[in-house]
Amino acid sequence: MAIDPQRIEFGNDDIDTDALPAAVPAGGPKPATDLQPGKGLDVGTANLLSAVRRKDGKVIVKRERNMFLEVPANVQRNRAMLTRLSVPYVSHRDRLFVLGNSSFDLANMFGSEVRRPMMDGFLSPREQDAIPMLRFIVERLVGPRTVENEPVYFSVPAPSIDRENDTIYHQGVIESLLRKLGYEPHPINEGHAVVYAELAEKDFTGIGVSCGGGMFNVCVAYRTIPAVTFSVSRGGDWIDEHVAKVMGMSRTRACDLKESEGVNLAEPRNREEEAIVLYYRNLIEYVLRNLAHRFSLAQDVPSFHEPVEIVVAGGTSLVGGFVEVFAQELKKVEFPLKIAGVRRANDALTSVVRGCLIAAALEQQ
Ligand SMILES: Nc1ncnc2c1ncn2[C@@H]1O[C@H](COP(=O)(O)OP(=O)(O)OP(=O)(O)O)[C@@H](O)[C@H]1O
Ligand SMILES: [Mg+2]
Repeated sequence: MAIDPQRIEFGNDDIDTDALPAAVPAGGPKPATDLQPGKGLDVGTANLLSAVRRKDGKVIVKRERNMFLEVPANVQRNRAMLTRLSVPYVSHRDRLFVLGNSSFDLANMFGSEVRRPMMDGFLSPREQDAIPMLRFIVERLVGPRTVENEPVYFSVPAPSIDRENDTIYHQGVIESLLRKLGYEPHPINEGHAVVYAELAEKDFTGIGVSCGGGMFNVCVAYRTIPAVTFSVSRGGDWIDEHVAKVMGMSRTRACDLKESEGVNLAEPRNREEEAIVLYYRNLIEYVLRNLAHRFSLAQDVPSFHEPVEIVVAGGTSLVGGFVEVFAQELKKVEFPLKIAGVRRANDALTSVVRGCLIAAALEQQ
């Protein structure tokens, strides 16, 4: 595939992040006319993101947490209250649900738990309202299509090496949801999306690692072609779950603490941060051990002439000191490839969705 890096350079773009509209305008939202056809969608356990390029070249990214809360009791009264507070909600089968970021804030305020449509990278078999809730959030993020059968490149996890999971069902549900919105869905492997977003200067050769809420996704690519892809089914949620247990708090609260500013793996400032650091280190060590094991078995790992770079992306890579600990742990395992270095993506949370948008631009050429 001939690639002109100039056409897909994102370096000079501004990125806008927008919240969900409180309510869809009467008659439904109107398709925007200033957008280029083709969208990216990152379907993550913790976050859903959409990306689209405006005709002036600017990329618009929207993000919502992939979670919801059911608001009990008096539907009429609560509906009025939520509207007054500008909290996005939907009513579904005579029940009211608060979606996305607002559900996280509400749950945090009241010390309760949010409900999650996805778990460990895939649709959650434990959540019966998973599909309609996911649909509501995705619909608002991608908005109406701008042309008939507009392509949407959406992220899918690779099968896990430490757990059995059903990629076919998960992918099929997202495809059908996008088709119902009038889009033409195209799955793209999550780690491959990181390679698209972050390794243009290396001719799309290297290792992309997406460190997410539910899992770590790895892709070894050679000139855009994904040679090896797999996932390890632990991520930020695993840290939250364990910190919540040992500290006696809700998982939502543990997540909020972990994401708060200044947490650094090298310098925990209190007991809670000590617990976070302990589980973070354990997680990184677990992932790298699995990664080395996967590579040791592989016949499919390409041999590169030069050492390759590892780029880490995803929300879990955002904690202070992550790259340093990752690089330290990497030295402790046997690795069949020569590594030039480890670095974090410039905008780790949006890397996958930007990669999806690049895939949409490249593959539609
Ligand atoms: N500043 C931060 N510090 C530490 N962790 C963070 C930070 N911001 C987000 N996270 C964590 O990153 C995770 C979400 O990352 P991301 O959005 O990449 O995951 P995802 O794509 O939703 O999940 P997956 O790819 O596993 O399905 C959550 O566990 C979240 O708590
Ligand atoms: Mg992800």
